Amino acid sequence: MSEFATAAAPEAAPAVPVRVLIVDDEPEKLGYVRALLEAHACTVEVEPNGSQALARVKRDPVPDLVLLDLMMPGQDGIATLGKLRRARPALRVVMLSNLNDTRKAVEAAQLGAADYLTKPLKEADLKSLLGQAALAGSASGAAPAAPETDGEDTRYVMVSPAMQRVRAEALRVAPIDVPVLILGESGTGKEVVARLIHRHSRRADGPFVKVNCAALPGELLESELFGYEAGAFTGAVRAKPGKFELGENGTILLDEIGEMPPALQAKLLHVLQDGAYSRLGSRKTLKADVRVLSATNIDVQRAIGGGRFRADLYYRLNAFTLQLPPLRERQEEIPLLLRQFMIRFAESYSRPILPITQAMHEACLRHPWPGNLREMENFVKRYLILGDEAQAIAELEQHAAALAATAPAAPAAPVARPPRDLKSLVKGLKGEAEAEAIAQALRESRGVRKQAAQALGISYKALLYKIRMYGLEPE
Ligand SMILES: Nc1ncnc2c1ncn2[C@@H]1O[C@H](COP(=O)(O)OP(=O)(O)OP(=O)(O)O)[C@@H](O)[C@H]1O
Ligand SMILES: [Mg+2]
Repeated sequence: MSEFATAAAPEAAPAVPVRVLIVDDEPEKLGYVRALLEAHACTVEVEPNGSQALARVKRDPVPDLVLLDLMMPGQDGIATLGKLRRARPALRVVMLSNLNDTRKAVEAAQLGAADYLTKPLKEADLKSLLGQAALAGSASGAAPAAPETDGEDTRYVMVSPAMQRVRAEALRVAPIDVPVLILGESGTGKEVVARLIHRHSRRADGPFVKVNCAALPGELLESELFGYEAGAFTGAVRAKPGKFELGENGTILLDEIGEMPPALQAKLLHVLQDGAYSRLGSRKTLKADVRVLSATNIDVQRAIGGGRFRADLYYRLNAFTLQLPPLRERQEEIPLLLRQFMIRFAESYSRPILPITQAMHEACLRHPWPGNLREMENFVKRYLILGDEAQAIAELEQHAAALAATAPAAPAAPVARPPRDLKSLVKGLKGEAEAEAIAQALRESRGVRKQAAQALGISYKALLYKIRMYGLEPE
């Protein structure tokens, strides 16, 4: 059974033969795997131990895929993995084990193993591996080790199934000029998704403006949104355009819409209905050519029930709704996020990158993250400043304990849960690399998919499938 089962593309069989090296101290038991591999047009070599395997990978041609037994006498699979990857950093190594050992699986993932499978191997697992090896093989030269920071879209981690769904839905609705309501706890990335929609809309060249509806009292918020003429109220010395004007031909994000005072909700509803509004103190009607996105972390249905939010406005705003999952429901993204935040903040603080050890990964997987990604950003900043891993972890644990003590029975309160199975964790890491390789190939082929499929060494059909799976459709 595959410990880290991956969704096999419909046509995972590689176009070019894949060179597979098996490292196993009991080669006589490999007949079945070998036969399977050869049936899939692979060339198969076998080495009986770690040191011979190391000598082999130092020679050309480098194998496309190494199947490495975990339990070997002498130098075991983990030790061998480290050496192989040091010798050939781009080498794809899949660990094979008789046991489903989560700790070993994490260790292997941290050392850069591409997968961790339990014996006996299933044909479907092998097929999926071969498809990935072919894909990675042709893209390995291009795949960056660190997350890309220039392409806005690839800067963000969206590899869990839940976030891939959000991303795909956001990209689907982006070109359609309808309001979108983005829901999610604080710090889950609502603004990031709003910007993603804007960038993929036909308004992408226009402005993106944001208004925080919770930051200002009613009248000020009104003037902020619609602008005012000189003398409209005391202190209005000079005329000022509102965000609706500034957002002309672009997108406006009404952040924390749930906090908007009721009187202003009524006015906003009118603007959305007629597309017309005026600056305060002016009779001139202005036309709002702005796409309205809104975001909130409150339970809107409850606010409607409690009379704090207008149902008619709600229906106007949520032609389409996106719900962002909290971080505790996408734990597989935690390792990637930690790494990305570390790189980002180390750079902006001009500090050396600190190691993210297994202990830190485990602490982060245990933590409930009520403040979601924003809380994690602060955690990484704090770790960078403290420079002390043990202290950073201790603080995190104290925080979790304090939370548990103050809200023991509330069902909605985040509860520390054991880390989700590592299957999805490693799947997330793989998905990220694969999605990135595909995005890169599409960029290089300027969106010509046939050409990208060729460059990646996968079939056109498999590419279409993966483009859909990762939500990489162009706008
Ligand atoms: N998918 C992601 N990958 C990496 N970083 C992200 C991702 N989503 C959000 N972030 C970062 O996390 C922080 C919070 O994101 P954002 O401001 O979009 O969340 P929010 O839901 O609007 O939060 P709030 O409720 O606090 O306004 C930001 O600094 C953002 O850059
Ligand atoms: Mg926000």
